[in-house]
Amino acid sequence: MTCLTLGFVLASQDAGASGVDQATRKLYKRPSGIPFPKDNAHSSARESLGKTLFFDPRLSGSNWLSCATCHNPGLDWTDGLPRALGVGMKPLPRRTPTLLNLAWSELMLWDGRSHSLESQSLEPLASESEMNMPPENLVAKLRKIPGYGALFEAAYPEEGLSIATVTKALATFERTIVSGTAPFDRWIQGEEKALTPAAVRGFALFNGKALCSRCHSGWRLTDDSFHDIGLPDADLGRGAILPDVEILQHAFKTPTLRNVDRRAPYMHDGSIATLVDVIEFYDQGGKARRLSQAEDVRPLGLTSQEKADLLSFLKTLTSADKSVVLPILPR
Ligand code: HEC
Ligand code: HEC
Repeated sequence: MTCLTLGFVLASQDAGASGVDQATRKLYKRPSGIPFPKDNAHSSARESLGKTLFFDPRLSGSNWLSCATCHNPGLDWTDGLPRALGVGMKPLPRRTPTLLNLAWSELMLWDGRSHSLESQSLEPLASESEMNMPPENLVAKLRKIPGYGALFEAAYPEEGLSIATVTKALATFERTIVSGTAPFDRWIQGEEKALTPAAVRGFALFNGKALCSRCHSGWRLTDDSFHDIGLPDADLGRGAILPDVEILQHAFKTPTLRNVDRRAPYMHDGSIATLVDVIEFYDQGGKARRLSQAEDVRPLGLTSQEKADLLSFLKTLTSADKSVVLPILPR
């Protein structure tokens, strides 16, 4: 491989054989630990209570829907559906996003309308089309399950069982949902053979000609920001919250690309079936071409070899994660 096709990423002289310089690689380095907020520090009692609640269908009015029904660990914490199914198997307006790596995310949901993991869970719990469980009913219901008392006591001895501690425990568990080490991470750490030459070329394209890293940046491959990438549906996304900001109309949160080849179908509306189709979509510069569309989504002129290289790279972001052990629910 010469530097001819990779020239656009060569900002410094230490690019070496891979064509990607050390400064670029450094931007993708994984952090060493998970951040927890001061007012909801981690403890194993909190994590295990949160996990128990997450998998407990009694958190729903009907007793059959748990958080894990839609955020299924076997499907990378999503449901494999174009749109989530709620009460009565009715499709919800948007696709279920993965819960991977949210400890580092500031705004939650596709449109960022929720400001923390703690506050987010109130929404699916209370929503009549989802778990249909208003906070008062939930606390009363959990109090009647004797086994929960001791779990709350161990996790939040000063606070006890309340809606605040339910959401804090859920958030603690969610922060521990982190994608494992993928071939890409080993390569970032210097193991040159961890990626094939095609994947390395794909990574160079990702940071260069294909413009992907303008939004999918850092080790989680997201800027945590909101963009209209030109999907033609009518959902205003963040624009419904901030109607005066042109570039936020039809804008949605940039998803992490960790384990992305295991999380089809794609996008907030589940409208793109495969990664090959996603790459095709970006190569064409999006579909809707509205005033709000991000500048960095524009026709790319990728060759079929370049598209294949990009796909090879995306597949290196998948980690072989350990199986999740289901909790025994208190009775
Ligand atoms: C019926 C399916 C369903 C259930 C049940 C459900 N969710 Fe979700 N979840 C979704 C959908 C759909 C979205 C995206 C909604 C949106 O952005 O408007 C979402 C979004 C989220 C997000 C935001 C992720 C991000 O990237 O910002 C979190 C966190 C979350 N859910 C946690 C939970 C928790 C905790 C529970 C249980 C209390 C739960 N969910 C129950 C379908 C579900
Ligand atoms: C202008 C910012 C931007 C650029 C440039 C961009 N993306 Fe995205 N990407 C996003 C946003 C925002 C979404 C979610 C859009 C939605 O659902 O409405 C997304 C969604 C995706 C998804 C679907 C993930 C999922 O879980 O549904 C994939 C895969 C993806 N992008 C890959 C790429 C690749 C590959 C490139 C380069 C060819 C690229 N993106 C360029 C912002 C961007």
